[in-house]
Amino acid sequence: MTSTVVTGIGELVTNDPGLGSDGPLGVIRSAALVIEDGLVAWVGEAQHAPIADREHHLAGRCVVPGFVDSHSHLVFAGDRGAEFSARMAGARYDGGGIAQTIAATRAATDDELRLRIEARVAEMAAQGTTTVEIKSGYGGTAAEESRALRLAGEFTSETTFLGAHLLPDPEQADAFIAEITGPMLAASLPYSRWIDVFCEPSTRYAFDYDQAKHVLQAGAAAGLGLRVHGNQLAHGPGVRLAVELAAASVDHCTYLDGEDIDALASSATVATLLPGVEFSTRSPYPDARRLLDAGVQVALATDCNPGTCYSTSMPFMIALAVRELQMTPAEALWAATAGGAAALRRSDVGVLRPGARADVAVLDAPSYVHLAYRPGVPLARALRL
Ligand code: NIG
Ligand code: FE
Repeated sequence: MTSTVVTGIGELVTNDPGLGSDGPLGVIRSAALVIEDGLVAWVGEAQHAPIADREHHLAGRCVVPGFVDSHSHLVFAGDRGAEFSARMAGARYDGGGIAQTIAATRAATDDELRLRIEARVAEMAAQGTTTVEIKSGYGGTAAEESRALRLAGEFTSETTFLGAHLLPDPEQADAFIAEITGPMLAASLPYSRWIDVFCEPSTRYAFDYDQAKHVLQAGAAAGLGLRVHGNQLAHGPGVRLAVELAAASVDHCTYLDGEDIDALASSATVATLLPGVEFSTRSPYPDARRLLDAGVQVALATDCNPGTCYSTSMPFMIALAVRELQMTPAEALWAATAGGAAALRRSDVGVLRPGARADVAVLDAPSYVHLAYRPGVPLARALRL
């Protein structure tokens, strides 16, 4: 068992307020970190660092917990660049394009899909992401959904069954929901930790409150944790449903009313904001300030998918959150790390304290503030020793 002391850390964000200054971020300046067996063994001021087998010097760089991207759809083939161009010329997003990606994904072999997931996960790591959740949702049948989850499971333990992503024909809704909660769920279960549903009654391609509730309850009965896509395109019942069923997270939260905010504030459900979606669909941004000021736990994620946000970059989401959602640089970093961990109900990531996973992002900058201050500059990378 080899130990490594990482020295020369100008600013270490631990996300443990007991370990440092700056409130929830628990910042230690002129810090060191000892890694042993993939876990954090020690953090503190460099002058007190214990001896280790090896030393890795960072020349004053900033270290933060690796980003936790708690919402992505990485299992897909093809792209929808033409749909994006049409939107930039004024077309609205309604979810109908999902069918195109389902067709392209079904046509791809396992090896093709595996290479695409691998490349996207590598893009994420190159930008500081060390934990990623991956959803299915471009399969549409039991065999295709379970294939997507089996492949996703080669890259992460945070796999989410999203059989209820596209309602192909509202006339056949009952039969399709029986398929999702029956054979699709059964085939996907061995490869899934979570279940998710696109609850958005404002479009004919998604699921209403009763349909979404039925799907989530079937998943919960099978032992899956709950997540919801809600309130993305218009005000709707997604947030209410997520809180009612004690889902770990409700994602998007673009259109909320006061009742939604109150419900979230008195629940353990995390509000996951996906500002890359508003950027890429030219939509109004969610009101993060109202959520934060009400005491709601907020996470940031990419939602990487070919329709609403084809970006793997958590630093870009942080920059958008600061510039467009009026979050402070500290709030945005917390949401992209500890917030994502809370959305996945994980206490071993999103934090750098003894016993946590040594999932570390190094910034080519003296402070985490530079993530938003220098947008578009590749400052962050996952530390590989
Ligand atoms: O999170 N809104 C539903 N699902 C995805 C988009 C999927 C797609 O358009 O391919 C989302 O935005
Ligand atoms: Fe999504």
